Amino acid sequence: MRTDVAQPVRLADYRPADYLIDTVALDVKLHDTATLVRATLALRPNPLGRAGAPLVLDGDGLTAKTILLDGKELAPGAIFVTPDQLTLTAPPQQPFLLEIETEINPSANTRLMGLYRSGSAYCTQCEAEGFRRITYFLDRPDVLSVYTTRIEADTGEAPVLLSNGNKVEEGKIEGSSNEGTRRHFAVWHDPFPKPSYLFALVGGDLGSIHDTFTTMSGRKVALGIYVEHGKEKSAAYAMDALKRSMAWDETAFGREYDLDIFNIVAVSDFNMGAMENKGLNVFNDKYVLALPETATDTDYAQIEAVIAHEYFHNWTGNRITCRDWFQLCLKEGLTVFRDHEFSADQRSRAVRRIADVRTLRAAQFPEDAGPLAHNVRPDTYLEINNFYTATIYEKGAEIIRMLKVLIGDDLFRKGMDLYFDRYDGTAQTIENFIACFAEVSNRDLTQFSRWYHQAGTPLVEAQTSYDPAKRTFTLDLKQSAKPTPGQDHKDPFVIPIELGLVGADGETVALQSATEDAATPEELARGVIELSTPQRRITFTNVATKPVASLLRGFSAPVRLSQSVSEEELIALVAHDSDSFNRWQAAQTYATRLLLRSVDLVRSGKQACADEAFGAALHRAIDSNINDPAFTAQVLSLPSEADIARELGENVDPDAIHVAKDVLRAALGRQLAPILLQTYERLAPVGPYSPDAAAAGRRALRTAALDLYAAGSPADGGALALRQFETAETMTDEIAALGVLTHVRGEAREQALDTFYKRHAADALVVDKWFILQATIPEPGTLARVKKLMEHPAFSLANPNRVRSLVGAFAAGNQTQFNAADGSGYHFVTEIVIGLDHTNPQVAARLLAAFKSWRVLEAKRAALAEAALRRVAQVNDLSPDVKDIVERSLA
Ligand code: TRP
Ligand code: ZN
Repeated sequence: MRTDVAQPVRLADYRPADYLIDTVALDVKLHDTATLVRATLALRPNPLGRAGAPLVLDGDGLTAKTILLDGKELAPGAIFVTPDQLTLTAPPQQPFLLEIETEINPSANTRLMGLYRSGSAYCTQCEAEGFRRITYFLDRPDVLSVYTTRIEADTGEAPVLLSNGNKVEEGKIEGSSNEGTRRHFAVWHDPFPKPSYLFALVGGDLGSIHDTFTTMSGRKVALGIYVEHGKEKSAAYAMDALKRSMAWDETAFGREYDLDIFNIVAVSDFNMGAMENKGLNVFNDKYVLALPETATDTDYAQIEAVIAHEYFHNWTGNRITCRDWFQLCLKEGLTVFRDHEFSADQRSRAVRRIADVRTLRAAQFPEDAGPLAHNVRPDTYLEINNFYTATIYEKGAEIIRMLKVLIGDDLFRKGMDLYFDRYDGTAQTIENFIACFAEVSNRDLTQFSRWYHQAGTPLVEAQTSYDPAKRTFTLDLKQSAKPTPGQDHKDPFVIPIELGLVGADGETVALQSATEDAATPEELARGVIELSTPQRRITFTNVATKPVASLLRGFSAPVRLSQSVSEEELIALVAHDSDSFNRWQAAQTYATRLLLRSVDLVRSGKQACADEAFGAALHRAIDSNINDPAFTAQVLSLPSEADIARELGENVDPDAIHVAKDVLRAALGRQLAPILLQTYERLAPVGPYSPDAAAAGRRALRTAALDLYAAGSPADGGALALRQFETAETMTDEIAALGVLTHVRGEAREQALDTFYKRHAADALVVDKWFILQATIPEPGTLARVKKLMEHPAFSLANPNRVRSLVGAFAAGNQTQFNAADGSGYHFVTEIVIGLDHTNPQVAARLLAAFKSWRVLEAKRAALAEAALRRVAQVNDLSPDVKDIVERSLA
């Protein structure tokens, strides 16, 4: 039972550690239920700490066997040990050695933090505070140590033994164990001082693939990817992505890899996506394993992005780490920015940008608009695990991107170089990072830094007017921000607005401005306006005919934009905007307006509406972007139901949204039937499979065409889908077809689902797709189906991927059924959360965060959601993880 009441941690209370740990020697004897860990820590007082302070090491549920100070036992009174803390009351004031032996039980570790078992392997996860579940330590990111790790294990059970750095020794242990099994050991040494959260250890009977990479200075690095036996072939794409990431970081950022070895291990039980442990990345196998027949194009793109992300952490996170966890975005926002840039360079920049903005809007905007809103650099937390959020990651990346837009590519690179140069080997803060860019650009970035300190998505309102007599075009910009938890007042942000004026015939209007409401010459030259005051008026001169303003090109800032632009003007932008992102955005904006009107009609008991003009615009978009199928696929995919809910912002009725969207899709499907069919046929697969962006783009458009066609012609579309389902050679095509079939009630659906399961029962990651599809069926029967699937032998509450695919997909991806008007969806999800909290609080808390938008729902549903949350809040013994989420959600 938990007795301690968690205290908030505050940034304002930061002080350096009183002691430092220069070296750590770990001796780990792997055992299923009783692993012995002997840690020898070389400590010394920190010159920046408090002289003579007690030494307080963190622990989490530990059992200490022996503790020696400089080889001697400690007198009672000199030491206090609990499972969660080890205190030396009066430690030596010169360097000293502390030897601690702990015994841990990896098999009983269901939280998947610290040392645990995944399948037959042993693995670790230490970020953020998992190392303290292995041994007592100063488990904070500003204590950097050089690690030497000796791992011992049964040769048969764990022939592969890995840790950070380079392998310096290995061998058999003669006449070893008492049980008569043969044992062996390996010693790894990591010369780079690192915080404990980057420690990792893996032991197991694993298959592997190997390759090499030669760095820009000519050093050869041995690359290895370790997977379950038999899955080796599925790791080839990840290896390819790794080599491309290593090369890209050299050219794009001048960053070279620093060790002789880089290993990746894929495990099937993992709380998050992957982990950047120095020289030994550990991955959720979902982000490693891919074959054309098991992984979709989206999976391939995600694998590429996550492999890159973790690799890029080697410089942004590992060589330069965070001073404390309040600085999490220093490594995460920056590294997401870097992986976005990588994917943009490897694929289509415009299409990647659209996908990244979709993610930002789907995950981060609602977070920032609800009770879980927090600063990108928070100043207090109860449970750090709950701060690995879309705000830290995605909005954090957007801030870096804005910085680059503001100061330009060259100065941005200079600032990054200065940062690497100045802070290599240290634990840093956001302030010191930003100061590098202020220095190289000679700009005061104080106001810009508000992006880190004020939560919430700003709203930018844009009004335009044209004066034919004066040939002037006036743009009035206004920024505002709603209050967020703890922040009623908001100071103006610095918002870079990339823009262009699109002439009546689609031509680009030159930007000139020579009145008292002028833009600066630099702004005009770069096409980027800085909005840093609550309001700003800019008058463009020499504008011969009335243009359309294309604002926020490339989504140059993470804001909501409300622009006075007519439907005709939006259609002109879809056709002519030279900025592809805004061509896509104009179509989305049009569809959103249409859907909002339609939702209103549905709610007042009228028929939902569609719009021929929009269909015609989509038709032209398909025709004119014939050479960019990936982009066209994005244009064809309408705003999601969650997008519409977010736009409504209050009094949300998910059923009305669903009806409105269904009706629009069906109408578009009918109106565009010929061209959709033609597109579908034209893009039939030819030649051997390739995962590259161009081939994936053709498949994406083909899927989008089938999807919309089937919405308009269910019988015909269903027949096409069935044919595709039966003949598909790739998972992309197979799951797309199954998706269409799944949306029509009846025997055919059940049969297809059955066939799919039988085909793929042996592959848990593919079965996850089967769970997701069923959990997201927008029908009243879905909850019963999900409950039944929880009994399925392929499901397990112990595995985070399974939980996310079935329960997580239902909660986050099924608007109508999670928000069912009888509260059944809420009840179901909170029951799972309460149960799961005992075994894996981190995953339970994440699941509960699906309630983050409950306050925008119409009154009846909001009351039911609130009641469900209150029931959770009343449970005794909640983990700090769930307690934190539920309390903030209700606050
Ligand atoms: N640092 C990891 C990343 O690359 C995130 C992560 C992986 C994580 N595992 C975790 C965070 C466990 C908290 C707990 O983004
Ligand atoms: Zn990361």
